[in-house]
Amino acid sequence: MFISFEGIEGSGKGTVLRAVCGRLAEQGVDFLSTREPGGSDLGAPLRALLLDARQSIVPRAELFLYLADRAQHVAQVIRPALAAGRPVLSDRYADSTIVYQGYGRGLNVPELFRLNESAVDGLWPELTFLLDIEPEIGLERARRRNAELGLSVTEGRFEAEAMSFHRTIRRGYLDWAAEHHERFRVIDGSRPPEDVFREVWDILSPRFS
Ligand code: TYD
Repeated sequence: MFISFEGIEGSGKGTVLRAVCGRLAEQGVDFLSTREPGGSDLGAPLRALLLDARQSIVPRAELFLYLADRAQHVAQVIRPALAAGRPVLSDRYADSTIVYQGYGRGLNVPELFRLNESAVDGLWPELTFLLDIEPEIGLERARRRNAELGLSVTEGRFEAEAMSFHRTIRRGYLDWAAEHHERFRVIDGSRPPEDVFREVWDILSPRFS
């Protein structure tokens, strides 16, 4: 079982994912929780490059770095876990590339879909939660978190983008999710974390019983 979590900065997907992992651990489920970018050994330096606010990366170079990160992540981490029968939960996956590099940076979405297909060798999640939130609220949350963790420069490249970019990303996610509604569940991320978790868990728990 492969499940991904998507959303803009500060949408709360990290928080809800942690809560889901906590609940699964309580139930004794042997699962794998991972993330992109940076979910493999090769991915750690790639993540540092991609999220560094000081880097200027052209959209196509950025695209291929994300795809390289994903190809390694799938082959080294995700597929082996699935093959061992472990459910896999990923904080971001291929939909992030479609939305950020496609809707956000203006690269061609059908081409991105094909390149992703190749990078992941056909492996798409069976269920994807989209945590939807107004960018103004999400960005304020992300800014506070980055300031608290001292991440403003090294992990702040996307947070530093103009508000219009984040609005485009939010719209892109909603459009993409509507096109793939069989796999996406859109969750209102502006509510308190407990409420968001409850809704997500209601959808997930039957799959684990
Ligand atoms: P991260 O710190 O994981 O952000 P968040 O906590 O919001 O998940 O940073 C991931 C950033 O990388 C995020 O701004 C989205 C971007 N990204 C892409 O542009 N394309 C991709 O394929 C992926 C996986 C992430």
